[in-house]
Amino acid sequence: MLELRNITKRFGNVLANDRVNIVVRPGSIHAIVGENGAGKSTAMRIAYGFYRADSGEILVDGKPQPIHTPHDAIALGIGMVHQHFMLVDTMTVAENIVLGAEPGTLISLDIRGAGKRIRSLSEEFHLAIDPGAVIENLSVGQQQRVELLKALYRQARVLILDEPTAVLTPQEVDEFFQILRRMREQGKTVIIITHKLDEVLAISDEVTVMRDGRVLGHRKTAETTAAELARLMVGREVLLRVQKKPAVPGRVILSVRRLSMKGRLNGISFVIRAGEILGIAGVEGNGQTELIEALAGLVGESELSGSIDFDGREISRLSARQRKELGIAHVPEDRQRRGLLLDASVAENSILGVHYREPAVTGRSGIMLDDASIRARAQRVIEGFDVRPANSELPARALSGGNQQKLIIGREFELPPKLLLVSQPTRGVDIGAIEFIHRKLVALRDSGCAVLLVSAELEEVTAIADRLMVIYAGRIVGEVDPTLATNEEIGLMMAGGSRTSDED
Ligand SMILES: Nc1ncnc2c1ncn2[C@@H]1O[C@H](COP(=O)(O)OP(=O)(O)OP(=O)(O)O)[C@@H](O)[C@H]1O
Ligand SMILES: [Mg+2]
Repeated sequence: MLELRNITKRFGNVLANDRVNIVVRPGSIHAIVGENGAGKSTAMRIAYGFYRADSGEILVDGKPQPIHTPHDAIALGIGMVHQHFMLVDTMTVAENIVLGAEPGTLISLDIRGAGKRIRSLSEEFHLAIDPGAVIENLSVGQQQRVELLKALYRQARVLILDEPTAVLTPQEVDEFFQILRRMREQGKTVIIITHKLDEVLAISDEVTVMRDGRVLGHRKTAETTAAELARLMVGREVLLRVQKKPAVPGRVILSVRRLSMKGRLNGISFVIRAGEILGIAGVEGNGQTELIEALAGLVGESELSGSIDFDGREISRLSARQRKELGIAHVPEDRQRRGLLLDASVAENSILGVHYREPAVTGRSGIMLDDASIRARAQRVIEGFDVRPANSELPARALSGGNQQKLIIGREFELPPKLLLVSQPTRGVDIGAIEFIHRKLVALRDSGCAVLLVSAELEEVTAIADRLMVIYAGRIVGEVDPTLATNEEIGLMMAGGSRTSDED
């Protein structure tokens, strides 16, 4: 169906793809795995005409095809859903789907007619979505359905999905896999990039492993194992489990009492002590994002009630900047929107949030950026967090997804924090880097920092949290010991069932 033959692509002196060969059979689900920066997205963006290869060929249905722009790819029946969605927030589902599908006819867009086709496609593929809904009001999972519909609307025969499950909850992943299987039944070909080896084993027919820009191997999924794939990807055995000592909690760092936000948070109370990681498990959309943002100072004061005491001080009236100055670091879940300035350099991003004060700025007027100290800080983040490539002058946009994440986490660690608020720290991060980030979080805890960890990955929260709370519909529905509770128990609480019948 689709073949990449000897594809080579350089960005400056980074060899992103080095004679890449991938053969994707029609009607199959083909997984591509590899570490952050291995070249997976680059290879697929070339197939989609988003980048042009320096050399090599792309064949569709066995014939070499010049694919120079996404328009060429779409005309050949290739669709792609990018790692970071490309939807216009303020427009409706239908407008987004039609936009770009019919270039040049923008004025005469038949949105209503499109609505009908979108409805029938969404029925055919079980992609429930309202064509009239505005994108910014949709959850990430729903936005992804819009992206899928967009490709189907353009009659894609091959769908390239770049880390589609990174943003989904475990339940959504199951539904999503049903959708993919349904697409395969209807004769579509699916290429899926993922870091999750259990997903590769669950959904794919074949798998290609990349490392350092090259294809290292190709397997029939039925004939391989997670351990073999991990070894191929990373080049060594990977610890799939975190090693940590029991926490030694110190004084109370954060005390939240009856925190409420209309329709979102309902009387949340808890404390976190220095030297412990408090995990929050929950199906996305149950208030965890709002909770973290409320604590970070990103929610308007008028929308909140209740109190937030940080290190002996009531902070609910302080701005995000003031809270940061007190030592509250924040790793946001949406790294591209909230975490980075994509067009700014790695160095500039490494001082984001503290860019207005020393040591980033010198002079009483506070307007001179101190290049040397910014570079030194960037260098510490790059080295301490293994950001690749190790070049502080590159725009953040040029880093692969996982490396962007390491940059944000490294920057927040530099604060240095007394409290770290961290959402989905390993989303889109490869297994080697997950191991690395988990070790860093545990080390930060051991140095006396309090950590509030929100993650949709049950394995992640149970592996690294010392205490675990479950959030449902804006309330804490219970607390469990992560070393004792089973996934079923936690899963039940996540779905709204209390652990004990008399609990609130
Ligand atoms: N537009 C760009 N400009 C400069 N360098 C780039 C650009 N896009 C990718 N690169 C570099 O090419 C290499 C491969 O990146 P790519 O995004 O393909 O990796 P990936 O396998 O998709 O990683 P991840 O799992 O983190 O998404 C990386 O070193 C990356 O920094
Ligand atoms: Mg990628």
